[in-house]
Amino acid sequence: MITSLEIKNYRAIKSCKIEGLSRVNVFIGRNNSGKSSLLEAIYLASAAFKFEERLHKKDGISDKISYLLNRRGFRGLTWDRDREVLWHMYKCEDPIEVEFVFCDGIKLKTKLFEWHEHPILEVPYRDFDHMCLIHYGAVNSKNKSMMKTSTDLVMRVLDEFVGGRGEKVRRFLSDMEFIDANLMREIEHVEKILWRDLLKYRLDKIIIRMLKSGYDVEAEDITYVPYGEIFQLVVKLPDAIVRVDDLGDGAKVSMMIIMVAALSKNTAVLIEEPENHQHPSGLAKTLEIFLEMVMENRVQAFITTHSLELIKLLNAIAREKNVDVAIFFMERDKAGNVNVRRLTPENVSVLDRMGIDPRFLDII
Ligand SMILES: Nc1ncnc2c1ncn2[C@@H]1O[C@H](COP(=O)(O)OP(=O)(O)O)[C@@H](O)[C@H]1O
Ligand SMILES: [Mg+2]
Repeated sequence: MITSLEIKNYRAIKSCKIEGLSRVNVFIGRNNSGKSSLLEAIYLASAAFKFEERLHKKDGISDKISYLLNRRGFRGLTWDRDREVLWHMYKCEDPIEVEFVFCDGIKLKTKLFEWHEHPILEVPYRDFDHMCLIHYGAVNSKNKSMMKTSTDLVMRVLDEFVGGRGEKVRRFLSDMEFIDANLMREIEHVEKILWRDLLKYRLDKIIIRMLKSGYDVEAEDITYVPYGEIFQLVVKLPDAIVRVDDLGDGAKVSMMIIMVAALSKNTAVLIEEPENHQHPSGLAKTLEIFLEMVMENRVQAFITTHSLELIKLLNAIAREKNVDVAIFFMERDKAGNVNVRRLTPENVSVLDRMGIDPRFLDII
């Protein structure tokens, strides 16, 4: 688990330091306070360990950098021509930096330089009795053989640096998934990638439980059926079937979150505004199952939200299930420095009893 992190020079963020991270972390703040930039920066750092896209891989997007360049509007931005949009105020002289501190004290810093398409890892390295800083990039997806060598190199250096825990750290960072609004619209795409694994471990049962209890869908089973040339995932109801595509938007968002959480292990999941399309009862069920997955799979969650409902539900369910939740309030000044304050669940409930909406802390 990551306990603190620091970001420099990424999009809205000139600098941002967050301490006291928990199992589940929720970020609130006004529009433009840097919430999306925060999730993106964490995802960017994961590209130092795994450069290729998985869930967002589609229509010419094959790696995380090209996804980040385009995710706010698919206009064919490329690294060669448009890389500066990733830098705060387009100032690419200084690298974009993301530093993580893990719970066992391991500290890792990744940097993205304008002269190198992949974020790279900066580690102190003992070379002939001198300590020096060296940089390693995990992959070059265009050149598979180089990818193998450099991954091995990163592992060797990481292991030396963190003493045998390199593989654990590498997996934590490389397996990270980013569930954003784009992904939530791509259920047929994601289902194709994940469904086989979900079935393999019969995790489809969790989806059925979620549909029944949260969304009033009398789901008995989920299966693939042929529709002309293609196969489609459908939900079996007592007297009919319904295509997954035709489920309500709330149920689809929930399905996306649960599918990803069910298959994530010992890693982080980044979720942008999961409240979209959700009725509180559906949201409550989704959060409940999500927290079960988080505990079972030892996942760390980073969630941005504008929903007070979500915060209250999450605090209540987390208390019941004994999950550590931290709420962070973000404020960004004109220079792009982001100040982050941690609110405890008690803080939130005190504010609530005083009639103060924690989302408006900056105005107060
Ligand atoms: N490259 C950049 N340099 C400086 N500011 C940027 C850059 N890209 C986006 N921004 C600013 O970031 C803000 C959006 O930040 P974002 O992280 O999306 O906030 P939130 O998700 O909290 O609404 C906008 O005000 C935009 O002007
Ligand atoms: Mg945002």
